[in-house]
Amino acid sequence: MIYVETLWIRSENLSKAVAYLRQGEVVAFPTETVYGLGADATNDQAVQKIYQAKGRPSDNPLIVHLYDKKQVTLFTDSIPKKAEQLMAAFWPGPLTIILPHTTDRAAKSVTAGLNTIGLRMPSHPLALELLEASDIPLAAPSANISGKPSPTSAEHVWHDLKDKVAAVVDGGETGVGLESTVIDLTNEQEPTILRPGGVSKEEIESVIGPVKMNSQFIEGDTRPKAPGMKYRHYSPDKPVYVVDNNWDYYVAKMLKSGEKIGILASDKIIHQHAESAYGVFSLGKDNDVTVASQLLYKGLRYFDDSDVTVILAQAFPKEGMGVAYMNRLEKAAGVN
Ligand code: TXA
Ligand code: MG
Repeated sequence: MIYVETLWIRSENLSKAVAYLRQGEVVAFPTETVYGLGADATNDQAVQKIYQAKGRPSDNPLIVHLYDKKQVTLFTDSIPKKAEQLMAAFWPGPLTIILPHTTDRAAKSVTAGLNTIGLRMPSHPLALELLEASDIPLAAPSANISGKPSPTSAEHVWHDLKDKVAAVVDGGETGVGLESTVIDLTNEQEPTILRPGGVSKEEIESVIGPVKMNSQFIEGDTRPKAPGMKYRHYSPDKPVYVVDNNWDYYVAKMLKSGEKIGILASDKIIHQHAESAYGVFSLGKDNDVTVASQLLYKGLRYFDDSDVTVILAQAFPKEGMGVAYMNRLEKAAGVN
């Protein structure tokens, strides 16, 4: 569908967004992780518009967003104790919990044929306000064209989806910058993180004990547990190289082959190599992976719209938020 004019909605005009959602239209809105593209999770026609607008493969299920823990029972009668503990500890916040979908309440296209459902209560005040004012559980993937880096500002959404969605609610820049952690609790004995994100494995384990990590394809199976993880993701159009402490080597190599280098790194690295760079984008003053995570997608998008021909991006240790950061960066680089 082509919308003649996508509406840009400021926070004080949220009622317009509510009206669109009630009519079965799609509306982009801010969350604390990235912008989401929302539609009524119980209305199949509305949800299909999300897949159309994004160009998203239909076998990739959507997360349903809630404003109140009580809404979980709309979708499942089976809430294990560990799920309750995680909700108490991390909701509202960047954690998606996969549970059995036992009520048949979500539209078919939300679960993409699975008998499970991903649920999350975001903490962004505008997201909560929208969910509560509409009183509609919203199915919402990240509000980007499928395969591109997720949007961390309303301008990013506009760039990708103008004229493809009814409205974009502007809530400024998001906070976390990377998508929520997805944890599968359909088997309570074996809680498994399917996608690392804003809540770390260690934080989760401090509440429910040991969890497994499986953000890769399941061995011997072509179908990964979180279907979305199999697609090339988060990727700009330019080649991305993940650079650890071998900056001199990479910079020299790229210069030699005539590349226009874009450096995506903390200020210290940028200063060391600024003369060889065609463009730079700072991931923060210090080597702080929390700040780098907030800026990663913005930087990838910045270089996509610039004349650089390759992007050299800073690696961080794979611990805490660094696990999610490296997961997204390696996907952008096509490493896994
Ligand atoms: O932070 C976020 O989670 C953002 C904001 C908008 O909430 N949303 C987001 O949605 O990142 P999306 O669609 O881009 O990623 C959802 C991921 C996909 O990898 C999908 O396959 C997985 O969650 N997923 C959703 N429902 C699932 C289910 N029932 N079983 C397994 N994986 C599921
Ligand atoms: Mg996404």
